[in-house]
Amino acid sequence: MSSPGTEARWWHGATLYQVYVRSFQDTNDDGYGDLNGVTARLDYLAWLGVDGIWLSPTMPSPDHDWGYDVSDYLGVHPELGTLADLDRLIGEAGQRGMRVLLDLVPNHTSSAHPWFVAASGDPASPYRDYYVWADPAPGGGPPNNWLAATGASAWTLDPRSGQYYLHNFLPSQPDLNWWEPRVHEAFREILRFWFDRGVAGFRIDVAQGLYKDAELRDDPPAPEADVVRSRFGLAQVYSANRPESHAVFRDWRKIADSYPSPRLLLGETWVGDLHALAAFHGHGDELQLTFNFPFIFAPFSAAALSAVVAETLADLPAGEVPVWTASNHDISRFPTRWCRGDEGKARLALLVLATLPGTCVLYNGDEIAMTDVDVPDALVRDLMRAETGARESRDRSRTPMPWDDSLAAGFTGAGVRPWLPGGGRSSRNVAAQRADPASTLHLCRELIALRRAEFAGQLMGYQQLAAPAGVWAYRSGGLIVVANFTDAPVSLAGVGGAGGVAGEVLIRSDRAAGAAAGFVGRWAGVILR
Ligand code: NOJ
Ligand code: CA
Repeated sequence: MSSPGTEARWWHGATLYQVYVRSFQDTNDDGYGDLNGVTARLDYLAWLGVDGIWLSPTMPSPDHDWGYDVSDYLGVHPELGTLADLDRLIGEAGQRGMRVLLDLVPNHTSSAHPWFVAASGDPASPYRDYYVWADPAPGGGPPNNWLAATGASAWTLDPRSGQYYLHNFLPSQPDLNWWEPRVHEAFREILRFWFDRGVAGFRIDVAQGLYKDAELRDDPPAPEADVVRSRFGLAQVYSANRPESHAVFRDWRKIADSYPSPRLLLGETWVGDLHALAAFHGHGDELQLTFNFPFIFAPFSAAALSAVVAETLADLPAGEVPVWTASNHDISRFPTRWCRGDEGKARLALLVLATLPGTCVLYNGDEIAMTDVDVPDALVRDLMRAETGARESRDRSRTPMPWDDSLAAGFTGAGVRPWLPGGGRSSRNVAAQRADPASTLHLCRELIALRRAEFAGQLMGYQQLAAPAGVWAYRSGGLIVVANFTDAPVSLAGVGGAGGVAGEVLIRSDRAAGAAAGFVGRWAGVILR
């Protein structure tokens, strides 16, 4: 944990680790990972060296969207454990110097939440205005053209009242109406409830979504190929991304800052425009951290990634830091998406992620270069996919953590069927890599340790250096990084202007014998000082 002097910005230079709880460690042999499983693996996470963990949804839910459909914001999902288990997890993590962030879902609830049950049963219910209702279009049918994440209309008719309700995701995930002041009050209480229990912050689901256009205007078209900017051919100009949401984050930031150790607000800010991303930081008075989807979806090339980094840093208000992450539970894992399974490339990616200024967020499995798992159609558990059949299932990146090479992978009991299939026996497991000092796991651990030693609590400088095509070289704090995204070794003499760069090699991503002195191997990186 950072020293008291850096407490106020402990996430600067930190490494956070996303735990997909259901797939991390099962302790009661029901095939689902649970909170006690996370606690059981805290020693591993402390060994890895992360500063904090973000737990995928922990609240009670019918699991139409695996916890992103919350039916009680003040509880713990019985399948994952109890409130006492969560308290214990937070306490045990704290003893090891790690903070715990929860996942908060303020854009929508489950249709099983008591608010929606009351609201949909009775148009005169005091909870009716907690949700977004609208009359059918003049000729009948949905009120406007907005689309849900499934590709279907974002509106479902409530036959009892003859009105439609809005759901930007599944029909069982009705959107909350943030024009209603009581929704604000309810979430203030939710924040305080968890902060008072020692939760260090929240990852905020669909942070760009909260307010919708008051006039419910149609969304305009957008090129469908642009995965960040377009939802099935529409730009979410009115169904999300409204300016009014910033006031919510200013309000929450005051609550977060009212604690002696400031609580962290990390937005799932799914926007394609880096100016819009920076705007979520306000004037340093909104979200402290924002996920950068343009970086995630950039091609794995020196030119593309360095361009996003430069623009992100240029756009952020003074004193604010970016987040670098490359995998999560919704997208293909980076060792597959960026690296096509090539472990050398994954090691290069980890070296870059760990040396960029700001906050690094790893997804469980990144540290062993875990790849996507093909989940056969019959075993798919992701309804968002099942409803449309269209896109690849998100389950590919949600499969159990491979702790060892046994059939159950150390995830669950022998003979127990895990909720999602494992990837089969593989050398990319934690036990094998922990026993091999040259493994990706050890590289990742060394990177995290260097990152902490150099960057913890710091607002660091970043400067891109001259380099041949395909090579990304930069100064980050006191380090020089040369990342070679090409098929041939490059000489350090050709990087950084006259005479090249030189210094002590602290870490190189290719295994020791991989490259001659003074060179960076193909698809490899070095860190110099
Ligand atoms: C983003 C979450 O990460 C995803 O899993 C979920 O389906 C949507 N938000 C809706 O909550
Ligand atoms: Ca379990």
